[in-house]
Amino acid sequence: MKFETPAATNPIDRMKVVGRAQTRIDGPLKTTGLAPYAYEHRDEIENAAYGYVVAAAVAKGRINAVDTTAAKAAPGVIAIVTAADVGKLGKGKFNTVKLLAGPDVDHYHQAVAVVVAETFEQARAAAGLVRVDYARGKGRFDLDAALKTAPLTDAEKPGKGEDRVGKFETAFASAPVKLDAEYTTPDHSHAMMEPFASIAAWNGDALTVWTSNQMIDWGRTDLATTLNMPKEKVTFLSPYVGGGFGGKLFLRSDAVLAALGAQAAGRPVKLAMSRPFMANNTTHRPATRQRIRIGAAKDGTITAIAHESGSGDQPNGSPEAAVLQTNLLYAGANRLTSMRLAVLDLPEGNAMRAPGEAPGLMALEVAMDEMAEKLRMDPIAFRVKNDTQVDPKDPKRRFSQRQLVRCLTEGAQQFGWSRRNAQPGQVRDGRWLVGMGVASAFRNHMNMTSGARVRLGKDGIVTVETDMTDIGTGSYTIIAQTAAEMMGVPLDTVVVKLGSSAFPVSAGSGGQFGAANSTAGVYAACVKLREAVAQRLGYNSADAVFDGGKVVSGNRSADLRLAASAGELVAEDKIEYGTLDKSWQISTFGAHFVEVGVDTYTGATRLRRMLAVCAAGRIINPTSARSQVIGAMTMGVGSALMEELAVDKRFGFFVNHDLASYEVPVHADIPHQDVIFLDEADDKANPMKAKGIGELGLCGVGAAIANAVYNATGVRLRDYPLTLDKHL
Ligand code: MOS
Repeated sequence: MKFETPAATNPIDRMKVVGRAQTRIDGPLKTTGLAPYAYEHRDEIENAAYGYVVAAAVAKGRINAVDTTAAKAAPGVIAIVTAADVGKLGKGKFNTVKLLAGPDVDHYHQAVAVVVAETFEQARAAAGLVRVDYARGKGRFDLDAALKTAPLTDAEKPGKGEDRVGKFETAFASAPVKLDAEYTTPDHSHAMMEPFASIAAWNGDALTVWTSNQMIDWGRTDLATTLNMPKEKVTFLSPYVGGGFGGKLFLRSDAVLAALGAQAAGRPVKLAMSRPFMANNTTHRPATRQRIRIGAAKDGTITAIAHESGSGDQPNGSPEAAVLQTNLLYAGANRLTSMRLAVLDLPEGNAMRAPGEAPGLMALEVAMDEMAEKLRMDPIAFRVKNDTQVDPKDPKRRFSQRQLVRCLTEGAQQFGWSRRNAQPGQVRDGRWLVGMGVASAFRNHMNMTSGARVRLGKDGIVTVETDMTDIGTGSYTIIAQTAAEMMGVPLDTVVVKLGSSAFPVSAGSGGQFGAANSTAGVYAACVKLREAVAQRLGYNSADAVFDGGKVVSGNRSADLRLAASAGELVAEDKIEYGTLDKSWQISTFGAHFVEVGVDTYTGATRLRRMLAVCAAGRIINPTSARSQVIGAMTMGVGSALMEELAVDKRFGFFVNHDLASYEVPVHADIPHQDVIFLDEADDKANPMKAKGIGELGLCGVGAAIANAVYNATGVRLRDYPLTLDKHL
């Protein structure tokens, strides 16, 4: 089904199942431990051996020799595989850096070898006996130093360095009120609960991999490319994922090494990345250095706005696109955004939840707060004043839906914003200085082709099959809700099967595009199944109504099961997109409100209250959407106050590579959180009229906290995380 014109009224609009709060249908399996995660598949796999990664001990250099003599003689060892043993591996589309080092080493903890043994402990012990002789090279590990000579880049239009409208420099120079400030965000680690893990089993020249991955078809394709084998010979399975946050968008070394280890051992191999390897072996969100300049008239009208960001990555990597939201969030006649990309020999930077916007808004929305203060305006009034209903670069393009002003003003009312003291450092509660902060939230909506197959059995059970993943987000449930709505059946007669390369290719889980696009694909397949049902029953599909397990057409009515009595009905389709997103700017909006207390003795910041107001199209399941947003708000607390991969600039690695030293929020750090969804249905987005929510919930949180810390203390911190030492 090609989606080319704004969505007309369709069966989803009845909202009998879609749009209703629904607890996870996979919840019981997860809470009882019956949902198998990647490392846990046992029934399907007999005689599995264990793989353990040997990871590079230098960040840059060459491997002179690998001595495996002692390791091979260790108890239980079956095989050891290095790059020298496997010939030339292919290069997957989505990996910047090779997943198996040799002879060159590109970054610290890049995989050098996999040791396969009878038990996990034997594999780990033998890995410690592998002797690697390195010639250490000179690496580039200091972002600030590397940015001094880094060229301009552009994530969207290669070769183009700056995005300009009007004359920024002139307008900024003559603006009566202006701000010129620099903000820094550190490297972040995904730090998901479930580590990278895979089990690989060969059957002749066919490979099956149970893994933990957000994007089945990308992973399958890149695994086949890496191993120089046809994609059709790879079965790629990821039915449950214990968190990804973007780290599992791409194939990683666990899957490749399990496959190579299994080939060498002649047995299935299971391999989990140990926690201390993850920060340096896998990807991370790159640190940024952001400069923002805003010029405004005395009435608060922005006349000039510039956002320039620098970040670093491995050669051929990408910039952290921290400036993109600044092209769209506020009006202003004269504009400039640009990015610089430095070459670094740190581990590969890549997507982490709301790549671009998350760190970008941590700067932009603090700058907006600083500007409001210079203008002596309320920060909400300043944002409202500079709202735009059109793309500031291309005024012919309107936003399909943009309720930013309502998010801000209704949130203000709900949160009690009028009680905020605009004068910082004035509100005391015992030993605490108390402050409130606000920030706008913005995240773009992305269209992705997404396919599904639906089956109607003669027992009336509707089964959905798609390679969509559920990374803890609730995909199983919203897909079941969509099929139940479309086929007019109760939710408990829908079976959802996900995360297998045997199923039609879906949007996958990424970029907050998963929910809207994958359900739109299920919608498309269900439209076809409805046609097949109508045809079997001899009804006109155009006027057939599916409801309560029945199909009604004119004065005729039949039990839905009747249509499958002569045999199962199967329909498959995908949602594909035309050019609607060229004529309309399709984005999601929100506002974050926080109240913090800053300890006057220690400088430690504690969250006291949080509220998010979101306008993101139709909310398919308010329960799982709320969970997405409060999870994202929690991640925002981490980004504001705790998270930082500390770079050792001499040896080139992230020092704090475990959960003891890479801090993320725990329950005791999180106060009361409220989420409000504004009523919205975006008919330009897709037939579901839904957009995404999972990344929007993070966008702006860090800035809202920084602004609240300022309101509490009068100390403006521009260097994340806002740890207590920075108050001194
Ligand atoms: Mo998201 S960083 O696209 O999983």
